[in-house]
Amino acid sequence: KKRIAVMTSGGDSQGMCAAVRAVIRAGIYFGCEMYGCFEGYTGLVEGGEKLRPLEWADVRGWLSEGGTLIGTARCLEFRERAGRLNGAENMVKRGIDALIVCGGDGSLTGADIFRSEWPSLLAELEKTGRITATEHGKYQHLTIVGMVGSIDNDMALTDNTIGAYSSLERICEMVDYIDTTAASHSRAFVVEVMGRHCGWLALMAGICCGADYVFVPEQPPCAKTWRADLQAVCSKHRAAGRRKTTVIVAEGAIDDELNAVTSEEVKQALVELGLDTRVTTLGHVQRGGTAVAFDRMLATMQGVEAVKAALESTPDTPSPMIGIEANQIVRVPLMEAVKQTKAVAKAIDAKDFDAAFKLRDAAFQE
Ligand code: F6P
Repeated sequence: KKRIAVMTSGGDSQGMCAAVRAVIRAGIYFGCEMYGCFEGYTGLVEGGEKLRPLEWADVRGWLSEGGTLIGTARCLEFRERAGRLNGAENMVKRGIDALIVCGGDGSLTGADIFRSEWPSLLAELEKTGRITATEHGKYQHLTIVGMVGSIDNDMALTDNTIGAYSSLERICEMVDYIDTTAASHSRAFVVEVMGRHCGWLALMAGICCGADYVFVPEQPPCAKTWRADLQAVCSKHRAAGRRKTTVIVAEGAIDDELNAVTSEEVKQALVELGLDTRVTTLGHVQRGGTAVAFDRMLATMQGVEAVKAALESTPDTPSPMIGIEANQIVRVPLMEAVKQTKAVAKAIDAKDFDAAFKLRDAAFQE
């Protein structure tokens, strides 16, 4: 029987529990023995109870759970070879040679590196007597499958990441709340949203909440003129009778000289306009709570596909990442997706904002 472990890694996102549930149950359905790897890569490094079998009933009710019930962590030990040697040994001792990782690009890259290093790790483990020659012979190839759990929607080659729509929903609820008090007092609010280097959450929140103005990293405004432009737009809206002003700022917002556009600076520009202005940084509330229906569906369908991909993987095929393109669940090469994601960041670094926007647009198919 094939043994497959599932792990969540990096920042949590809504829908991760649904993903784990789907992987465990699909695995059992396809005749596999399933393991949960707890606390991200720490579960591999430490083994013991942190790398243990999970049964059908263990994930009962997980569809509607927030966060990740198998835990997540940034594991420093796994960045060292000694940690990865422990990880390989713990897997081999349990007969696990396939790992499904749900996380962001960093976590998925780590998994792919682990796979390419696997032969040399096993050779060293055998040489030092930590595994037998038979075990070495039996588990020569490590299968890795990536699922993307991230509120930021910041991965190329997939339209959506698990958690992005739940986070967007949370942001919309919060902005709706803020809007009521803003309108009562005729105030302006600068709402800072997450997204690391990706403006998807900010941009979509701007559309969904009817914000006056949005700042995203992929389309940075002119450093010299953005204040005047912001003021002109907001004044125009006020003159048309709007009693509130809502500006959404992505946490990674920058201007075209690559200076950060901070919520405080945006506030100052609005204060200059004579508006009574407050800043609200939404923070981790955006990663909290349960997954919306879309994320539950995405996580479930992708979880099933991840198990199929693990069962069909061969040593010669690159590690797959499970994505969604035009409403179809797809397998794409994991490292190609990571490469294209990094290309956006590179384009921004090179101040090639047009390219950054086009790359992101193509990557998300929005
Ligand atoms: O990647 C998800 C994310 O929530 C980003 O939007 C944010 O920049 C970051 O994680 C926050 O990380 P932490 O929870 O470690 O503060």
